[in-house]
Amino acid sequence: MNAVIRAIVKTAHHDCDMDVIGFLDGYEGLIENRYREINIKDASGILALGGTILGTSNRADPFHFPVLQGEEYVYLDRSSQAVRNFNSLGLDALIAIGGDGTMAASAAMIDMGLPIVGVPKTIDNDLWGTDVTFGFDSAVITATEAVDKIHTTAQSHHRVMIVEVMGRYAGWLALSAGLAGGGDIILMPEYAYDIEAICDQVRTRNAKGKNFSIVVVGEGARQVGGEMVVKRVIETSPDAIRLGGVSHQIAAQVEGLTNIECRVTILGHLLRGGSPSAFDRILATRLGVEAVKLVDAGGSGLLVTLRNGKMDSIPIKDVAGRIRTVTPDCDLIGTASSLGICLGFPIGADPAEHYEEVKPARRQPKQTT
Ligand code: F6P
Repeated sequence: MNAVIRAIVKTAHHDCDMDVIGFLDGYEGLIENRYREINIKDASGILALGGTILGTSNRADPFHFPVLQGEEYVYLDRSSQAVRNFNSLGLDALIAIGGDGTMAASAAMIDMGLPIVGVPKTIDNDLWGTDVTFGFDSAVITATEAVDKIHTTAQSHHRVMIVEVMGRYAGWLALSAGLAGGGDIILMPEYAYDIEAICDQVRTRNAKGKNFSIVVVGEGARQVGGEMVVKRVIETSPDAIRLGGVSHQIAAQVEGLTNIECRVTILGHLLRGGSPSAFDRILATRLGVEAVKLVDAGGSGLLVTLRNGKMDSIPIKDVAGRIRTVTPDCDLIGTASSLGICLGFPIGADPAEHYEEVKPARRQPKQTT
């Protein structure tokens, strides 16, 4: 986030003679009129810093904004307030950095008349319309390092080690970290797993003398006919469901069926922290520069994207409400299959026959007052 903020401020200053202010905590700051000016000095020295100097929020849907009344939250439509705040500051454009939640809110704010340019950010890499989001590469690197380290115990203790990664409703993180870390079994939300297929892979490896297995599982994975495992529900968040814990279920099942000891490591927010990778810094910088150029050219309602290695853009309304998942035609699925990695179904089976469109475990929002 800091890398993109830096790129926006520098480009606005050097190329376009624009001033930049940053709303604090995303849309929450726009609704509550909390912002700060960001000049070149503020934007300097933050490229390698993870996180954001502006803060962020996961509950700031302008159309469904939680406000504490007594001990209860009520949900208010604060979109008009957001527009008033924007206009009263005399702003020309809003650059919204975020994932699908941010883009869904932005699409609705565009309909309210706000000139918005979006920048895709999420470690899940699941935003529609762009080949990759910044944050993903850094998360893959951290997950891969973790899997590498887990190998030590797996090999020495002859265990099945299960590493659970974030990623919500898309398996990009699991698939990439699984491939990079040499996983034997990779489980993703898009391919419901058959526990017998997993155990077969473990047994086959043991029979070949490889008496350990590494499983990399995305938090949204689920058993054939089963549900995703919900860790908690954040009532005030527009996307209330938080996934997590499926690996414990898999460990109990595999241990029960194979009699081989299993251990679980859930990487969680570790994947979202630390200094961004060189790839992410460059991608965030390119996207930030492009966003300002779009604003300068009068562009609005667009998400800047990376398509086939080049900067591009797509209407935000085409992106809102959609997620990009790991479909069977994805190259990496073929790569994993060729290596004999179990993807939750029998080795050699056609991935297309086991792919299912993911239905996000959404929750009905509380009523807006
Ligand atoms: O969307 C990014 C993400 O990190 C997901 O991978 C994860 O499911 C979720 O956010 C966690 O959200 P929170 O930080 O609110 O627990």
